[in-house]
Amino acid sequence: AESCTSRPHITVVEGEPFYLKHCSCSLAHEIETTTKSWYKSSGSQEHVELNPRSSSRIALHDCVLEFWPVELNDTGSYFFQMKNYTQKWKLNVIRRNKHSCFTERQVTSKIVEVKKFFQITCENSYYQTLVNSTSLYKNCKKLLLENNKNPTIKKNAEFEDQGYYSCVHFLHHNGKLFNITKTFNITIVEDRSNIVPVLLGPKLNHVAVELGKNVRLNCSALLNEEDVIYWMFGEENGSDPNIHEEKEMRIMTPEGKWHASKVLRIENIGESNLNVLYNCTVASTGGTDTKSFILVRKADMADIPGHVFTRHHHHHH
Ligand SMILES: *[C@@H]1O[C@H](CO)[C@@H](O)[C@H](O)[C@H]1NC(C)=O
Ligand SMILES: *[C@@H]1O[C@H](CO)[C@@H](O)[C@H](O)[C@H]1NC(C)=O
Ligand SMILES: *[C@@H]1O[C@H](CO)[C@@H](O)[C@H](O)[C@H]1NC(C)=O
Ligand SMILES: *[C@@H]1O[C@H](CO)[C@@H](O)[C@H](O)[C@H]1NC(C)=O
Ligand SMILES: *[C@@H]1O[C@H](CO)[C@@H](O)[C@H](O)[C@H]1NC(C)=O
Repeated sequence: AESCTSRPHITVVEGEPFYLKHCSCSLAHEIETTTKSWYKSSGSQEHVELNPRSSSRIALHDCVLEFWPVELNDTGSYFFQMKNYTQKWKLNVIRRNKHSCFTERQVTSKIVEVKKFFQITCENSYYQTLVNSTSLYKNCKKLLLENNKNPTIKKNAEFEDQGYYSCVHFLHHNGKLFNITKTFNITIVEDRSNIVPVLLGPKLNHVAVELGKNVRLNCSALLNEEDVIYWMFGEENGSDPNIHEEKEMRIMTPEGKWHASKVLRIENIGESNLNVLYNCTVASTGGTDTKSFILVRKADMADIPGHVFTRHHHHHH
């Protein structure tokens, strides 16, 4: 909380209370008698020592230079000097966006993965004791939260949480009301840790069918968003007009992964459809996984040792 202003380049929005705190503060308290000086230089202007009469907006303390508030013409270089210790900052005061509750150039961007812990806490340690109330806005709409001292959001991230969150701290100083705005640009992304995709169910499936009937082979997998799932089967004699690949269906899992399924529909089953492999493959950057289906005439099914029945044939032994 008591850390100093160590960044040498600082951008700040006009109209807000602002301060610079040098990094030799504990020392400054010890040597009370040493002269401590703050200087400003800007443009052609050489170092000008700041004193309490420089500006009614500027307050000088042992450790801190305060602006109530900072204005565009405060842009420039600032120096703190004490004995042979010097610290320098370059301050750039930018215009406030008058049409928004925050200024785009002054946002802190954060990427949060969906379903992961997401937290926004409105805090301002330096002005803490002066802050009268704090409001939290999402996309410039005020959120109604119980705590109006340190409004907080703590939840598991959802895509709807994406947006600009602005903490606005209101404080009084010398009878005037000021505010300090800190805005977070939150982007919610998919879970970025890739899984090894897997096809669900056994590797080899015997499906009992009757000639002339239709069958639907359902292939489903747990995969990453960019992974693909497709069917492969022998098409030596040109494509079979009775075989149709249905549209892929996808549902997102609570972990941000996908359950995909793709059905291969074989109509008017003929002899040529029996005892050949219909393969379903899932492919990802991490590799592939394949499962196969074989159509077997119902009457022949009993002859297959250790067979696996799919669909509605579990009780047919
Ligand atoms: C914060 O203060 C600025 C002036 O510095 C004013 O334009 C803005 O409306 C204030 N914001 C709120 C939410 O009161
Ligand atoms: C907010 O973050 C997104 C994603 O990183 C970025 O594209 C966008 O430009 C950011 N907005 C601002 C105002 O910086
Ligand atoms: C905030 O300021 C108002 C008006 O000055 C005052 O009535 C109120 O008690 C203050 N609240 C806090 C928490 O300081
Ligand atoms: C395919 O199987 C998956 C997983 O069992 C299921 O969620 C999906 O609804 C099935 N699709 C069809 C068209 O039967
Ligand atoms: C189907 O998969 C099996 C086992 O992986 C493979 O031997 C066969 O060549 C594949 N057939 C087709 C048509 O892709």
